[in-house]
Amino acid sequence: MKTAIVGTGYVGLVTGTCFAEMGLNVVCVDIDKNKIDKLKDGIIPIYEPGLEELVKKNYSDGRLSFTTDLASCINDVDIIFSAVGTPPDEDGSADLKYVLDVARTIGKNMTRYVLVVTKSTVPVGTAALVRSTIQKELDKRGLEIEFDVASNPEFLKEGNAVNDFMHPDRVVVGVESEKAKKLLSKLYKPFMINNFRIIFMDVPSAEMTKYAANAMLATRISFMNNIASLCEAVGADINMVRAGIGSDTRIGKSFLYAGCGYGGSCFPKDVKALIKTASEHHVDLEILKAVEKVNAEQKKILFRKLSDYYHGDLAGKTVGVWGLSFKPETDDMREAPSLVLIHSLLQAGCKVKAYDPIAMNEAHRILGNHEAIVFTDDMYDAVLDSDALLLVTEWKQFRLPSWSVMKKLMRTPYILDGRNIYDADELTQMGFVYECIGRAY
Ligand code: UGA
Repeated sequence: MKTAIVGTGYVGLVTGTCFAEMGLNVVCVDIDKNKIDKLKDGIIPIYEPGLEELVKKNYSDGRLSFTTDLASCINDVDIIFSAVGTPPDEDGSADLKYVLDVARTIGKNMTRYVLVVTKSTVPVGTAALVRSTIQKELDKRGLEIEFDVASNPEFLKEGNAVNDFMHPDRVVVGVESEKAKKLLSKLYKPFMINNFRIIFMDVPSAEMTKYAANAMLATRISFMNNIASLCEAVGADINMVRAGIGSDTRIGKSFLYAGCGYGGSCFPKDVKALIKTASEHHVDLEILKAVEKVNAEQKKILFRKLSDYYHGDLAGKTVGVWGLSFKPETDDMREAPSLVLIHSLLQAGCKVKAYDPIAMNEAHRILGNHEAIVFTDDMYDAVLDSDALLLVTEWKQFRLPSWSVMKKLMRTPYILDGRNIYDADELTQMGFVYECIGRAY
């Protein structure tokens, strides 16, 4: 079986590489020549643990190839995955331009049966649109060729993508025909170990499942952040409450961590897009509107706490910031809480000393050169002569700093922990002022 994956972004590159690793013959396609040339040289455009090695290995073994020419490979493959970008429009809905460009190219060039699978996160109804777009092109050519469309949303997490793909909790597939079902069952067969489940359903349900999953996870986070604020007000501790409720198997332990807001390329975009789709169908998704609102407020929480601590007088203060990416193990800065924080700090007249293990270049690119921001080479340099340390992203290397060194380096030993990773008692005993999320001191 041969497969083409169109779009060598995050999802496409991981999907193509992991299928190749499982022995499949995969061609990855992208319109960006520069990206394709680099991939051929083993240079991957994103930071994702384990991916670069797999790309290099499968490329040199000949199972993985790269091209910019989709038309030339359409009739050599059985399945075409579309994993191109769906950037949000100004109104929050997903822009389907690239998805439909791929469909048009397929319709213009196919000469035999092909199964077209959407992997990008696309609104309900997109597979039907892909079908009609391909059909239109075939009609123009006066051809009757059988094809299928299917939806196979991706649930991988940045930073753990290779592992998620290789060991999925489940694979959701929306199909319209037995033939498509058989092809996709065969494709995923190598993954069918250790209780692995492939869930077949109709196409709209598969499309909806992706949005509902991300919306549910985002809801859990905003719910916990909201409860965390109440915990602070009533003298409860969100960490204890999390342990208490998470042990109920109906609730579960994951995605209950209060923090300084969710970011990334997925939750914010998908929540917005789902609200938009709902409103187009005259359904008011009130819960998700609240989820968005709570998250926007949560991204301001570290600044607010710092400002309260210094009674609103932040001008001239030096603030160390640890962790810039939206979460650990990625250099992705999209919608990162650190950006909201740093903008507020700069506006308040602070000097910012920022450090991230991986995302420094990306952060520098986004934040630009600013005389009040210093990007430090070392995590300890970021706290030198500082009036506060703000922990924004919980990279492993921040978990056990040398507190005695920290104490000497900081001008004011004030730690504001946006991810609740430090031991309050230990820090207070050492003479630090410690604050976190969802616990009053
Ligand atoms: C998310 C989903 O988890 C994936 O299943 C999905 O495939 C992906 O979106 C997507 O749609 O492509 P991702 O954005 O990579 O994955 O990151 P997550 O690990 O889900 O984290 C998202 C955000 O939530 C981060 O900012 C993280 O810090 C925050 N978070 C997560 C919390 O604040 N609390 C938690 O308990 C968990």
